[in-house]
Amino acid sequence: MTRSPHKLIPAEFSPVPSLDNTCEVVAVQDFAADLDAVALLVAAGTDLTAVVGLGAGALAAAGFDAEPGSSLVVAQDGHPLVLVGIGKADELDADKLRDAAAAAARATAKKGGRIGIEVPELALDARTVGQVLAEGARLARYRYAVLKAEPKEVPLTLLQLKVAGADAAEVTAGIEMAAVTVRAAAIARDLANTPPGHLTATDLAEVAAELGAEFGFEVEAYDRAQLIEMGCGGILGVNAGSAEEPRLVVLTYTPDGDPSGHLGLVGKGIMYDSGGISLKPSDPMHLLMKMDMGGAAAVLAAFTALRDLGTTAAVSGWLCCTDNMPSGSAYKLGDVLIARNGKTVEIKNTDAEGRIAMMDGLSLAVEAGVDAIVDIATLTGAALMALGKSRAAVLGNDQAMVDRVRDAAEATDEPVWQLPLERKYRKQLDSDVADISNLGGPHAGATTAALFLDEFVAGTPWAHIDIAGTMSTDADDSWRSAGATGYGARLLATLASAFTA
Ligand code: BES
Ligand code: ZN
Ligand code: ZN
Repeated sequence: MTRSPHKLIPAEFSPVPSLDNTCEVVAVQDFAADLDAVALLVAAGTDLTAVVGLGAGALAAAGFDAEPGSSLVVAQDGHPLVLVGIGKADELDADKLRDAAAAAARATAKKGGRIGIEVPELALDARTVGQVLAEGARLARYRYAVLKAEPKEVPLTLLQLKVAGADAAEVTAGIEMAAVTVRAAAIARDLANTPPGHLTATDLAEVAAELGAEFGFEVEAYDRAQLIEMGCGGILGVNAGSAEEPRLVVLTYTPDGDPSGHLGLVGKGIMYDSGGISLKPSDPMHLLMKMDMGGAAAVLAAFTALRDLGTTAAVSGWLCCTDNMPSGSAYKLGDVLIARNGKTVEIKNTDAEGRIAMMDGLSLAVEAGVDAIVDIATLTGAALMALGKSRAAVLGNDQAMVDRVRDAAEATDEPVWQLPLERKYRKQLDSDVADISNLGGPHAGATTAALFLDEFVAGTPWAHIDIAGTMSTDADDSWRSAGATGYGARLLATLASAFTA
């Protein structure tokens, strides 16, 4: 990769270091003798006397009650054993099991990189069990450590799963699914965690080309001159203040047989959001603005999973990539930009830049004739305020598309909550000089942002996911590791792999 020499970034620096960390995951009947630790998932009411020599009373006295979240390290011969509670067996679902595997992986993190997880016989199907155990453990042990000389934890290199009463081939099929979904999530995390100077729009386009070659999709990147030719006034407007070129990165996945439909995915790729002339204050929170490309990262990462998941639909992606900087050439309040679809937009706040960059991507998706569009964006502080950091907002012009997002969110435990696309608020976006302005009123900011995007989908069935809250977590939390969560990568891969028009 070619990089600005003044940044002293080594040519071999990888914005996707997770691809270099491999972890072998296997279903076993018996654990290898040399594991660093074994975690035993324990349902409430299980008698462990024969296993650890302690009855329920003694374990409770030591602080272990087998409820989710409770764990206890037990000294024994051979590998250290960690008990991890899963609560009542008949209340256990896939999400709780994924969380328990994450807890097991964290509880053994100090022990080393080769661990085993043992689960009792469960009512869940063996394939799901294999998939969520591998996802939970591997996502929990994710660390962004490529810029540290001495990482605090060793990466997971071997995960053995011992699942009582399960068909090993089914568990293995689940493990193979997880290899694809975890890889996608880790790619999305890597990209969002990478410092802004280490990952410009140009860099992202190059990474996309490399991922496309490796995972079977086409990548085309359009530079500033080409975007001028194409009339992409939104991306160009946001980019105007930057010393870095913008890139519109177009991804194309073509299935082997006749496509079952054509899905368009559009991602907000603001490589760094300073706010522009409407400059953000120097709040520690704005450290997070290197992650303002989390939507584009989720789309790109999802593409890496499509072929392995056997996706039958054609899937196209538009990543709208630029940073948002203040400078003598930056776009200004009062400027009017012209979108790819010809609509004129008055700029009333340069910090509402995501919708501006994305209007060109959405217009291009419509021109491509896709059957449906899903966009994903770290779009509004209002979504974070309304729903916090665990749930993303979903809005759309088509309930069936919103429901597809909700189903995929449920399957992946990347939760969403639907907000209304209240058309009454559309007039807040009225402009005296242009077709529309980029700023709504003081209330319902997630909805007015979505209403802005709605102007560019031309009635195509569409759902919009606002991940301003879910893009990151301050501390480790179940499958989310501190930093970028990779939210959306597994959701979009799951949605796209099941898409039919
Ligand atoms: N990238 C931000 C939204 C954001 C906020 C993401 C917090 C993650 C965490 C977006 O570009 C932005 O600045 N939005 C403004 C819009 C406003 C000016 C209408 C916001 O939400 O404050
Ligand atoms: Zn902004
Ligand atoms: Zn932004």
